[in-house]
Amino acid sequence: MKVTLIAGARPNFMKIGPIVHAIENAKASNKSIDYRLVHTGQHYDEKLSNSFFKDLNIPEPHVNLGVGSGSHAVQTANIMIKFEEELASNPCDFVLVVGDVNSTVACALVAKKMNTKVIHVEAGLRSYDMRMPEEINRIATDALADVFFTTTPEAGYNLIEKGCNKSNIYFVGNTMIDSLVSNLGNLVKPALFDDQALSETDYLVMTLHRPSNVDEQSKLAKIINLIGEKCNGKKVIFPVHPRTKQILDQFSSIPENIYCTEPLGYLEFMYLVKNSFAVITDSGGIQEETTYLGIPCITLRENTERPETTTLGTNELLGFNVEAISNAFSRLFNGEWKRGSIPGLWDGKAAERIVRALIAMNTH
Ligand code: UD1
Repeated sequence: MKVTLIAGARPNFMKIGPIVHAIENAKASNKSIDYRLVHTGQHYDEKLSNSFFKDLNIPEPHVNLGVGSGSHAVQTANIMIKFEEELASNPCDFVLVVGDVNSTVACALVAKKMNTKVIHVEAGLRSYDMRMPEEINRIATDALADVFFTTTPEAGYNLIEKGCNKSNIYFVGNTMIDSLVSNLGNLVKPALFDDQALSETDYLVMTLHRPSNVDEQSKLAKIINLIGEKCNGKKVIFPVHPRTKQILDQFSSIPENIYCTEPLGYLEFMYLVKNSFAVITDSGGIQEETTYLGIPCITLRENTERPETTTLGTNELLGFNVEAISNAFSRLFNGEWKRGSIPGLWDGKAAERIVRALIAMNTH
């Protein structure tokens, strides 16, 4: 059985890495499964792409389609054009896509039209917010996929509600958490930790890159000023995504306790998060990673496709409600934040389960 694995943007890499490793392990014990790793090139900066391959020990992709940036239509179309050629030259039994980025939906669409079965890892997540490009990508990918691997039972119910056949849905856990579990012993203290005189659990980490938070200069300024003001003088380490940097570069000043830095590699970023007092984010994956690590997470979004991080985990959704954010910071600094628990099957073995299921599919 030959599976083509698709990786395109930063959050894909920690989801695909464990699957690559699980396939290699299965191959080493003579199971009949092989893969081809395709990087679409959606993310191309050293800090958003190559450094993750190194940190996560992911082998060089067999091919990089080099599509780069563009509007949604341009980027999605370029991925489709390049991936159609790639798949025609290298046919396979399954194309496996992860997550919800433009590369996910573009490759799923190409594969399906070329009569190749599509596997979606992290299927069934829904924010029910069609203003998010990722929600559109998730819905379209799930409409095309043949096999669904889910991170939670709720994601499976979402798929069943939309008419997916139950027997094609596998609740396996979370491959992003697989990457975290297997790298907890390898985390790397970034130089800024000492340079900024940080001490454990005495600083916050912030990431912002959602178009709804960062594309409008006045909104981004309001967020940053509020966070600077509410953080009790604690330092906030802010690794800045290139999208956010374009806007931030136009600011004349930002609060003194917010320290902006380039995007960090995986091992350094997770070191910072693991040792932080709390995290402020609008990312999807970081809501899950903080839940696993038991670190308080303030999410500056109105909804989440990962509700278990709020019901079970340490996450709270605060949108950009000034009163709610102020109240959340008071609770945080008064030691009143919920402790949370880890969702079922987030145990570092999701990729093994996926590969076992694929091998079993092949033998039936
Ligand atoms: C993409 C994903 C988003 C994910 C995020 C993580 C989609 C629709 N969005 O958003 O779900 O959370 O990745 O980072 O797929 N840029 C660079 N260097 C790069 C890549 C991008 O400078 O290597 C800049 C470019 O100016 C580009 C902008 O960042 O236009 C946005 O990149 P893009 O891939 O369109 O989306 P992200 O905002 O990164």
